[in-house]
Amino acid sequence: MSSIDFPDGFLWGGATAANQLEGAYREGGKGLSIADVLPEGRDRIDLVNKPDFDFSIDPKKFYPNHIGIDHYHHFKEDIALFAEMGFKCYRFSIAWSRIYPNGDETEPNEEGLKFYDALIDECLKYQIEPVITISHYELPLTLAKKYGGWKNKQLIDFYERFARTVLTRYYKKVKYWMTFNEINSAAHFPVMGQGLVTANGADDKKNVYQAWHNQFVGSAKAVKIGHELDPHLKIGCMILYATTYSYDCDPKNQLAALQDNQANNFFCADVQVRGHYPVYTKSLLARNGVQLSDLDYTQEELDLLAKYPVDYIGFSYYMSSVVDVTHEKHETVNGNLMGGVKNPFLKSSDWGWQIDPTGLRIALNQLSDRYEKPLFIVENGLGAVDRPDANHYVADDYRIDYLREHIKAIAGAIDDGADVMGYTPWGCIDLVSASTGEMSKRYGFIYVDEDNNGQGSFKRYKKKSFDWYKQVIASNGQDLG
Ligand code: BG6
Repeated sequence: MSSIDFPDGFLWGGATAANQLEGAYREGGKGLSIADVLPEGRDRIDLVNKPDFDFSIDPKKFYPNHIGIDHYHHFKEDIALFAEMGFKCYRFSIAWSRIYPNGDETEPNEEGLKFYDALIDECLKYQIEPVITISHYELPLTLAKKYGGWKNKQLIDFYERFARTVLTRYYKKVKYWMTFNEINSAAHFPVMGQGLVTANGADDKKNVYQAWHNQFVGSAKAVKIGHELDPHLKIGCMILYATTYSYDCDPKNQLAALQDNQANNFFCADVQVRGHYPVYTKSLLARNGVQLSDLDYTQEELDLLAKYPVDYIGFSYYMSSVVDVTHEKHETVNGNLMGGVKNPFLKSSDWGWQIDPTGLRIALNQLSDRYEKPLFIVENGLGAVDRPDANHYVADDYRIDYLREHIKAIAGAIDDGADVMGYTPWGCIDLVSASTGEMSKRYGFIYVDEDNNGQGSFKRYKKKSFDWYKQVIASNGQDLG
């Protein structure tokens, strides 16, 4: 037992995204999304970054997001398992291409909505609070191919229509929303969030910043729609946060780390939370070869950003990173859509992500100081190779250790004064990895019998961490085992 105090009503749960678990990519009238053209394999990011990548499906390759873990047909069973763990909330996303198959239709696909009616009702049956990400790396493919992705201002209208449809349909049942998953990840890999690849302008940073501006406007419109429906709705942003350290106390590295923080951790949240572009915008743009005059924005849009900031900051936290501009050579590591300098004080996951629970306490303090708004850790977890025994049981003590240390770090930050709403570990059930398309990169409390080629029984099995997390929730974070 520990002496950790989590607030009453703390939202313990888990997180997923439609494109990584639903499968059924052509059922119920669903159209294709960006995720449907990403093949399996650790080189999927490199492939997509190649100049000749044109969003087409190669019949010789396997596309794991097409089948996910077949949650579309197993969702009742999956939610029953979440309920058994005692989830207070469940974060999932709505596949835009189930509701607007091409993204530019004027009427929604009723069959797609019916699926989410059933999913939400299933959560509510167990008093699980749904937490919905409106757009999570699943832009309808037509919006990338025909319209050129988020750099095109027409996408603001398409997103507004989609957001209005789902907010109007579900606002009486769903209180917590987020507008865009990891909106800032486009700094590293703009295809997922913005639908930008080399062929439609990803290499020109002007397009990335224009796309962000358009997304900020879309996000503000979603906040406006939601609050007009019900002022009590809580609509957040969602950023990828990697606590960023200077390699050493050399002022050059310190300055570089500060600028890295502005560019990668803070820029998007600064706009979405404070409602205006930060003072360093001009210099950040200039460092990326972009002038303010290159961007298409109106006073009316800036007013909208000011009037409709988000209610809370949702963020993912898996790892920290290090900035070093003073050494020509340094040991490098992989990371969440980005690589970096190795931190000699930290161990790494099987995929090279540097494990740093203290970094989460620092992140919570930094975000809390900067914004003074509620914080919601909507992704955290360990992607690891699980080795089930003959009974399909996985003794995942390594995952329990990772989560325990991060939960202690959250408790520390709450003690430091941070207002933390909840914690939803990523991939609470095994699902397809976003960066590599692998099933073998598992995060779940629930093992899904499926391999990297989509073969298996698709049966669900509880891991050791399942019972551990159940007791964490039941004790409101007091009993960390
Ligand atoms: C976040 C994303 O970047 O990290 C998720 O929001 C993703 O979609 C998660 O799955 C873990 O990354 P990966 O590449 O291990 O699946």
